[in-house]
Amino acid sequence: MNPTNLANTAVFQKLKKHAEKAGKWSLKELFRNDPGRFPAMTLTAGGLFLDFSKNFLTKETLSLLLELAKECDLEKIRDRMFVGDKINTAEHRAVLHTALRAPRYEKVLVDGKNIIPDIQAVLDQMRRFSEKIHSGEWKGFTGKPITDIVNIGIGGSDVGPRMVCQAMRPFHIKELNVHFVANVDGHDLDMVLNRVRPETTLFIIASKTFTTLETMLNAHSARSWFLNHGTIRDIQKHFVAISTNREAVEKFGIHHDNLFPFWDWVGGRYSVWSAIGLPVVLAIGYNHFTEFLAGAHAMDVHFRYAPLASNMPVLLGLTGIWNRNFLGCTSVSVAPYLQDLVSFPRYLQQLEMESNGKQVQKNGEPVTYGSCPVIWGNVGTNGQHAYFQLLHQGTEIIPVDFIVALSPHHTLAKHHSALLANCFAQSEALMKGKTADQVRTDLEASGMSPQEIETQIPQRTFPGNRPSNTILMNVLRPETLGALMALYEHKTFVQGVIWNINSFDQWGVELGKVLAQTIQKELENNISEEHDSSTSGLIALAKASRK
Ligand code: F6P
Repeated sequence: MNPTNLANTAVFQKLKKHAEKAGKWSLKELFRNDPGRFPAMTLTAGGLFLDFSKNFLTKETLSLLLELAKECDLEKIRDRMFVGDKINTAEHRAVLHTALRAPRYEKVLVDGKNIIPDIQAVLDQMRRFSEKIHSGEWKGFTGKPITDIVNIGIGGSDVGPRMVCQAMRPFHIKELNVHFVANVDGHDLDMVLNRVRPETTLFIIASKTFTTLETMLNAHSARSWFLNHGTIRDIQKHFVAISTNREAVEKFGIHHDNLFPFWDWVGGRYSVWSAIGLPVVLAIGYNHFTEFLAGAHAMDVHFRYAPLASNMPVLLGLTGIWNRNFLGCTSVSVAPYLQDLVSFPRYLQQLEMESNGKQVQKNGEPVTYGSCPVIWGNVGTNGQHAYFQLLHQGTEIIPVDFIVALSPHHTLAKHHSALLANCFAQSEALMKGKTADQVRTDLEASGMSPQEIETQIPQRTFPGNRPSNTILMNVLRPETLGALMALYEHKTFVQGVIWNINSFDQWGVELGKVLAQTIQKELENNISEEHDSSTSGLIALAKASRK
């Protein structure tokens, strides 16, 4: 049984008491006292290696955290997800992104129907379509092959495929350019339309609901732009849709043969494995996409069957729970030392914060403990020259996830050893810090005056004792990226279960959307609604500038 109030459970209280002790630990000493710490707190799964040893954890901490996971029914709820039970309770839906990457022979039932054949049929449709685009068989309205793909979507219909396309840059099919438009800010669409030619461009309108304001506005503007050059009949050569809303797609004027369907049991932020991955298939080819799915599936199998104590998503999730709920960390920084993963922190922001940024439990009771921390970050080494100052010497303790590949796709060996060295050095520096004595010794050696040394010491001291995880992979390939994303999906799931949150709805994005509709009417017409003086004042200024 999931406890109605996690904070009142005996194991939560035990962990709180344990955290009082942990607050006095030194990470350096934990390593000094235990030569077996690294092998005990590292593991491999799905081609990834996780080192979580630089956290305030002991065997006792881990065993208490595992007890917490059991108390919260983690295994039972995980198993219910995999078999298609409706664990998205607020929306009465199954949660089956794992089925999207399951092998053809598996059987997963939703309302008594095996969904695997439908999934495979859409994959086949994606394969056939991508082959036609790549071979040049699919032609634009002047008979020329497609050179540019423009994906119009937002949130999960943009962030996942955009990140994967960027990350898979070394695998791109050279003849095809893939662009993404998400923002309702017209500059986004305008910039892309200025780069492409209507006769050789294919638009993908990606929207689960096919009602999202930004996507619909961008789609209609793209359609008008196209119709300045081609005819209504040409639309079917230049517009395809990915959606669960067949009726709205046809109303928009997209032929049903050009619809790539998916299903309500695929959440937006978990949808890149479905037809929403079409831009990825077009960018890197169908075979690489299947490798991407296979990598995620390998992580699914590990998550589903490995014992909790040696389960990578479980340990990553529980370490996060420890840092958040017992050591008081309110944010987590993600630092991929991989230029191609530049959008990975942004992808995790949607995945984790839209899933677990909630203040009520599944049963409607308030959450009385911290839920999702703020997720943020940037690629290393760039971040080192910006916000790492705060990570090392700021007043907050911010755990960091370092992600790095042991081999690059390029041949600039010196660059790669510098990258690896910096990645490993940062986690070491965060943990070890630099004492006043070490600073004094260094400054004395530099010949600084004793008086100046004393004023410099506090500025140059690093407290250290700052936790981090490091995730290694051999090389960033479709299958390792798939495994990495599935790892974080399941980490998010684990944390949602512990916090007793429904990780699969997102009511928090609704209010602003509704209020924006009213304000847009005011901006475009001679009407005014009642607002606070700040909002009214801003609307008035905008209206005055439009005149
Ligand atoms: O911002 C909320 C949200 O519903 C996301 O969860 C979703 O990924 C995004 O909007 C886009 O929705 P759709 O695919 O229906 O256009």
